[in-house]
Amino acid sequence: MNKHILVIPGDGIGKEVVTVSQQVLQKVATRFGHTFTFDEALIGHAAIEATGNPLPQETIDKSNASDAILFGAVGHPKYDNDPSAKVRPEQGLLGIRKALGLYANLRPIKLFDELLSASSIRPEILRGADILFFRELTGDIYFGEKGRKDNGDTAYDIAIYSRYEVERIARKAFDSAMTRRKKLCSVDKANVLESSRLWREVVQKMALEYPEVEVEHQFVDAAAMLLIKDPRRFDVVLTGNLFGDILTDEASQIAGSMGMLASASIGDTVGLYEPIHGSAHDITGKGLANPLASILSAALLLDISFGLKTESEAILEAVDATLKAGLRTRDIADSSTPANLILGTDAMGEAILARL
Ligand code: IPM
Ligand code: MG
Repeated sequence: MNKHILVIPGDGIGKEVVTVSQQVLQKVATRFGHTFTFDEALIGHAAIEATGNPLPQETIDKSNASDAILFGAVGHPKYDNDPSAKVRPEQGLLGIRKALGLYANLRPIKLFDELLSASSIRPEILRGADILFFRELTGDIYFGEKGRKDNGDTAYDIAIYSRYEVERIARKAFDSAMTRRKKLCSVDKANVLESSRLWREVVQKMALEYPEVEVEHQFVDAAAMLLIKDPRRFDVVLTGNLFGDILTDEASQIAGSMGMLASASIGDTVGLYEPIHGSAHDITGKGLANPLASILSAALLLDISFGLKTESEAILEAVDATLKAGLRTRDIADSSTPANLILGTDAMGEAILARL
């Protein structure tokens, strides 16, 4: 198979982790007889520095010309405490999601048995947890009208959903539930928000088309509690953009660390694959970042965008074997991990490549 992959490293540890996952993709190509060609593009703070624009047109053009996108992270601390900044790295990520129509964000919460003790949740509550989030990615309060009035003393962000937007993400979630344990939990705040009442109406209607899927509706506050209390009760979780952002950071603790969670952003054209973690400037340049979230994102890329199931499985097996051998990055190590088994970004990458 010949495929063209666009690598968008972005900022901070984004660059460090995609360097490793690109090597993993190259290794898979060699082992299974495929040809992957790679190009690179700028986004976020790196793009602002080079061009003044967090999402240069060239990045969109290269994205459209690619078969899949491997994405790092965006962000820079200098904007976090500057609410008045008009140009921000995150605009690059939100912009590319919108420009490419990436409305479905799949975030699998996969717990590797070896990492049971890395979580702050008790092992007997966690064991066997396996959740797939479908987070809507191009609507909601993220993309509704926002602004200031009263001379800047009042600010607003409108949460807005149209029926078709809910339908298309719900369709993906229901179809996926049919291939899994046939359970779907839709998360909203329908007791308060009108956009959530439309959300619930659409999901209830679609449920009639899937009589085999056991559907429940939870308010987001209750869902946040249940995720920690009893993560095994969930199979597919369907939710909007803002609730999905928050709940998946929470759910990363089920998998032990944000450094373990991969994601796929898909729509009707090219797919984009990125870790759910951010640019982590506190550890940038120290070689400490866990590359596994990016490596697992590369596995999702092979499976979802290229249909290469065996190749994707090979990456998962390599990750599993590496963890079974006791190797850890700092974020997933615990007090019993011997110091010589705690690896940096590149060494963890080499351990995976060796097992591939
Ligand atoms: C994520 C991130 C982004 C989001 C930020 C960086 C804009 O937190 O992908 O979860 O809020 O969607
Ligand atoms: Mg987030």
